[in-house]
Amino acid sequence: MALLIIGSQWSEEFAAAARALNSGLDIRVWPETGRIEDIRYALAWGPPVGVLKTFPNLELIISVGAGVDHLMKDPELPDVPIVRYVDPDLTNRMVSYLVLHVLFHQRRMCEFLELQRERKWEFRPEPGTHEVRVGLMGLGVMGEATAKALKALGFQLRGWSRSERNLEGVECFAGQGGLDAFLSGTDILVCTLPLTPDTRGIINRDLLSKLSQHGRHQRMPGPVLINAGRGALQIEADILAALDAGELYAASLDVFEVEPLPASSPLWSHPRLIVTPHNAAESTPEAISRYTLRQIRRHQAGEPLENVVDRARGY
Ligand code: GLV
Repeated sequence: MALLIIGSQWSEEFAAAARALNSGLDIRVWPETGRIEDIRYALAWGPPVGVLKTFPNLELIISVGAGVDHLMKDPELPDVPIVRYVDPDLTNRMVSYLVLHVLFHQRRMCEFLELQRERKWEFRPEPGTHEVRVGLMGLGVMGEATAKALKALGFQLRGWSRSERNLEGVECFAGQGGLDAFLSGTDILVCTLPLTPDTRGIINRDLLSKLSQHGRHQRMPGPVLINAGRGALQIEADILAALDAGELYAASLDVFEVEPLPASSPLWSHPRLIVTPHNAAESTPEAISRYTLRQIRRHQAGEPLENVVDRARGY
């Protein structure tokens, strides 16, 4: 019985961490599969299309990421359960990224960094957290945990999700019908949506133009976008156009249409845009291997798996 680790640039690190846990499991790293009949489990990140179906005894796929679009793009994905990676370590990393960037823009830090480069001492008024409405697009594990952390800092919160949610202290909106109302009361849009056929390209000029301009009266120069979901949720040319037109004050992007972000991309040098290299929430070798072995143990014991993906829903 073997676990195959496939696709991630950190596969060897994951394997070393998993071996250190002494599970007794035979751990292999693709493409060194050994006998393909031995492979029962796969820990995968963007495996080459068509490869997973070549393991005749595969019983379970564990996603290296919380998102599973990197698996769903394989039209021949074998029909075995897929488990998403959901872990307090991953969630905490995402929450700290999102809180950092919300605070960064609420405190107008792009401007202060520019002033520093120019050696200019200039006071600029900033809104209090209670004056800023953060809109969370995506109310999954990460969105919900981020709402709690931002609430503690005094921000006003609203949330949007595919289906109705009810979260304490968060004004919730759902579905296509609730989207415009959600956007019209949002100063800082924080996106942790999964990538599905329904959400592809959702962050476009039209959506950005519906964000609240009301924040301008509260000392914030305009709406902000923070995307730590997936790059294919966004149309980057639209984000740049909205920034240049002043419809958007600033943005932080952790994910991109093409990753790594090409050196030629104009996103790198926009003064109101923070670029990070898809590092908002790292799946660390220790945490992901612990999680993987726990799911395998549950599977072997006939216990229910955790965080099983609903293929029809796409996440
Ligand atoms: C990372 O992108 C993840 O899906 O966890």
